[in-house]
Amino acid sequence: MAKLMATSLLTLLISVVPAQATPWDKLDSAQLEQKLTEKFSEGKYSPKGADSCLMCHKKSTKVMAIFDGVHGDMSNSKSPMAGIQCEACHGPLGKHNRGGKEPMISFSPDSKLPAETQNSVCQGCHNDPKQMAWHNSTHNLEEVACSDCHNVHAAKDPALDRLTVNDTCTSCHTRAKADMNKRSSHPMKWDQMTCIDCHNPHGSMTESALIKPSLNETCAECHADKRGPFLWEHAPVMEDCSSCHTPHGSVNDNLLKSRTPQLCQQCHADDGHASRMTSQAGLDAFSAGKSCLNCHSKIHGSNHPAGSNFAR
Ligand code: HEC
Ligand code: HEC
Ligand code: HEC
Ligand code: HEC
Ligand code: HEC
Ligand code: HEC
Ligand code: HEC
Ligand code: HEC
Ligand code: HEC
Ligand code: HEC
Repeated sequence: MAKLMATSLLTLLISVVPAQATPWDKLDSAQLEQKLTEKFSEGKYSPKGADSCLMCHKKSTKVMAIFDGVHGDMSNSKSPMAGIQCEACHGPLGKHNRGGKEPMISFSPDSKLPAETQNSVCQGCHNDPKQMAWHNSTHNLEEVACSDCHNVHAAKDPALDRLTVNDTCTSCHTRAKADMNKRSSHPMKWDQMTCIDCHNPHGSMTESALIKPSLNETCAECHADKRGPFLWEHAPVMEDCSSCHTPHGSVNDNLLKSRTPQLCQQCHADDGHASRMTSQAGLDAFSAGKSCLNCHSKIHGSNHPAGSNFAR
């Protein structure tokens, strides 16, 4: 009985996997690239454009979905569909249609082609100044492909939709995903905020590909009140919000890296009054878990003439 079940499971698996082996499946990535380069130099494009592809590929709803998006828009003179159509991205047809003798440029995450090769196809059309930062971006250097984020065979590219872009990013960035579900976080869980409110997916001049020239300026986009100027400035606030906050999520309130008083005592040696305060557990001043903040409540800075200690 067990054996019978195993056999039928196997049959089931075989019939589910469309094991359509192709001659180019056997090529390694270098051979594949070589083959495609030859094909390009022969330059045998199909005179019938997309029609010649669709005779075999129109059964796939995914393939057909390109006609619902910008790349399938024939009225845009720059769109592939107004030119050599499918072959603008997948390369010349050559003998691909004859018994599957030749491969096409493929893009999916399991494509054997290096990301750089795949990306160069997209960059043939997308080379405007907005793409400038890409070259030095971590994503480029880590061989992330344009099509790892973008889906061109779709009516609406999920990377361009505020309601789905977080999913695109967290499909790789699992730690950021875990963080955004912590007790304190930016409201990304329900997509009111997205990763690209702070990051440029194509890279930027800043470390961590932030949208502004510095971390503090990025935060100030939305939290301008914390930027000052203040009459009395708290040095770390002016220098680096991330000396106290973590941007993605924290188990502490207010995205704090640690709780008071430890947070403060990283920098403020426990020799002043602060040490006396902390050694007296249960002191009123430390009630409600606010610790140092009970008195130093204007922690980001103060505009009060007597606010040098951030107490008002
Ligand atoms: C005679 C039928 C036929 C024609 C015409 C045809 N293809 Fe294919 N194509 C196939 C088969 C068979 C495969 C391999 C199985 C599969 O992935 O569906 C394939 C695979 C592909 C792949 C995936 C390659 C990979 O490595 O996974 C792409 C991309 C592709 N074709 C694009 C095109 C384009 C673009 C055209 C037109 C310029 C075209 N095909 C014309 C039959 C055809
Ligand atoms: C703007 C560039 C572009 C154009 C134009 C384009 N494709 Fe694609 N194609 C892609 C990318 C990128 C993928 C990988 C999709 C993904 O992310 O899985 C892809 C995937 C495919 C696949 C594999 C799909 C699968 O089921 O996994 C086929 C087949 C294909 N395209 C055929 C076509 C045909 C036929 C046309 C013309 C009607 C066309 N493509 C036009 C970029 C393009
Ligand atoms: C033949 C030129 C061409 C190629 C090749 C091409 N694109 Fe495009 N792409 C366009 C045009 C035209 C638009 C429409 C916007 C415009 O007019 O600038 C566009 C728009 C886009 C957009 C914005 C989509 C939107 O809905 O606004 C994305 C994202 C994009 N392309 C990604 C890609 C990726 C990824 C590739 C490679 C797989 C690629 N493109 C290859 C011509 C091209
Ligand atoms: C890490 C994910 C990711 C990668 C990799 C990526 N993009 Fe994007 N791209 C995005 C997101 C997200 C947006 C939307 C940006 C916005 O709305 O501010 C976008 C926007 C775009 C746009 C439309 C807006 C514009 O800037 O013109 C184009 C075109 C585009 N990308 C092309 C590319 C190309 C070409 C590549 C590869 C060289 C690429 N992208 C790589 C995520 C990515
Ligand atoms: C295909 C996987 C993949 C996807 C999808 C992806 N990333 Fe990345 N990303 C990486 C890899 C790999 C690195 C480098 C290793 C690391 O820092 O985790 C990276 C690094 C980063 C960094 C650090 C950059 C730096 O210069 O230090 C940021 C920020 C980032 N990604 C944001 C995003 C955002 C925003 C999105 C969605 C629009 C996104 N990523 C989508 C793979 C991906
Ligand atoms: C409120 C702004 C903000 C948002 C929203 C945001 N980030 Fe970040 N992210 C930052 C800052 C700031 C840093 C640099 C952290 C540092 O230097 O301490 C960073 C660092 C990173 C890094 C590199 C360092 C690391 O922690 O691995 C990655 C990857 C990253 N972010 C991915 C994401 C992803 C994915 C999302 C969406 C789920 C996202 N970020 C949302 C501000 C943000
Ligand atoms: C695109 C806008 C935006 C940017 C940029 C931004 N924030 Fe926020 N921030 C928000 C929003 C929205 C909330 C939630 C406010 C609320 O719930 O009332 C928030 C909440 C917070 C909170 C309180 C969290 C809590 O649990 O109550 C802190 C702390 C914070 N942000 C710090 C930062 C820091 C540090 C940066 C820079 C790395 C930053 N923010 C960048 C929009 C932003
Ligand atoms: C010295 C540590 C420290 C630094 C540096 C710091 N913060 Fe805070 N931040 C705190 C503390 C502590 C709280 C909680 C205040 C409370 O409970 O009253 C807080 C709360 C917040 C809040 C949520 C409550 C509110 O007042 O809206 C935001 C937003 C915030 N900080 C943004 C920033 C930004 C932006 C920067 C950089 C310009 C920054 N913080 C730098 C310690 C710091
Ligand atoms: C990253 C280091 C750092 C952290 C964390 C930090 N501070 Fe500070 N703080 C400083 C520096 C630097 C000064 C300026 C010292 C000076 O001018 O002598 C300062 C100044 C102050 C002052 C004013 C001192 C004076 O001379 O009047 C008070 C009060 C203060 N901090 C309280 C706090 C409290 C409360 C916390 C925790 C919520 C905290 N600080 C967290 C670095 C830090
Ligand atoms: C009961 C109120 C109160 C609490 C709680 C409190 N402080 Fe203060 N703190 C003050 C006052 C008032 C001053 C100004 C003292 C002076 O000018 O002599 C001050 C001064 C400071 C200064 C300036 C230099 C110094 O040591 O005199 C620092 C730094 C400081 N506090 C840090 C902290 C930290 C860290 C905590 C939490 C562990 C804390 N304070 C808790 C009231 C408080």
